[in-house]
Amino acid sequence: MSTHIGAEPGAIAPHVLMPGDPLRAAWIAETFLDDVTCYNEVRGMLGFTGTWRGERISVQGSGMGQPSLAIYATELFTDYDVASIVRVGSCGALVEKVGIRDVILATGACTDSGMNRVRFEGLDYAPVADFGLLRAAYDAAMAREDVTAWTGLIFSGDQFYAPRPEIMTAMVEHGVLAIEMEASALYTLAARHGRRALAICTVSDHLVTGAETTAQEREQTFGAMVEIALEAVVA
Ligand code: HPA
Repeated sequence: MSTHIGAEPGAIAPHVLMPGDPLRAAWIAETFLDDVTCYNEVRGMLGFTGTWRGERISVQGSGMGQPSLAIYATELFTDYDVASIVRVGSCGALVEKVGIRDVILATGACTDSGMNRVRFEGLDYAPVADFGLLRAAYDAAMAREDVTAWTGLIFSGDQFYAPRPEIMTAMVEHGVLAIEMEASALYTLAARHGRRALAICTVSDHLVTGAETTAQEREQTFGAMVEIALEAVVA
C-alpha cells in the first residue's frame, strides 16, 4: 500500500498505461487485457493488472492535471518499482495541420505549471519522452492505416479554462502542436526516478477550427492509441 494506491507489493506490473479518467482505465482493462484484477479503488482512481500478449500490464487512472498525475506516477515509481508509464490521453489541437482524431506522440512537453519552477528554482528544464518508447510507438503508429500520427511538442497547461489563451500563440510559433494537462510532470518525474515515460494523445477537440469528436469516434481512436501504447511498452 502506498498513500494513494491500495495495491499489495507486486500487484502492479512493470509497465503501466495511464489514462486521466479512471473509467477509461476500466475500459482499457476490460477491452484489451486478459486475466484482469482490480488493485486499487482508493478515491475511485481505479487501477487494474492483466496480461496483453502474455506480458503483465497495469492500467492506472491519473486524474486530471499535473498535481494529480504526479501523486500516482511518484508512488508507482517509488513504492511499486514501475519501469515505464505511457500516458494515453486526449488533447486539443493548436495548429490546423493536425486534425481531429489524429494521434500525437509527444517528444517533449512545455508547461505553464509552477511545479518545475519550484523543482528547478526558476531554471527552465526540458521534459522529454523516453526515446525507446517514442521510437517503438512511432513504428507501431506508422504501421497502421487507421491512424494519422504526429511527433512533436505539446503543452501541459495547469488550467483547462485558461485565463490568457493568447499566450499559446508564442508556443505555436515555436512548434507546439497541442495542449493537454499532464505530460510535462510525467516526463520530469520519470527522469527524476530513472524510469521511462511517453505521452500519447488523441485530438479530441480543435482550438483553431472548433471541431469536436463524437463519443463513438473518441472510443475508436482511443482504442487505436491504446494498441500503439501496448506495442510500445512491450517492444
Ligand atoms: N485544453 C487542455 N486540455 C485538453 C484540451 C484542451 O483544450 N482538450 C483535451 N485536453
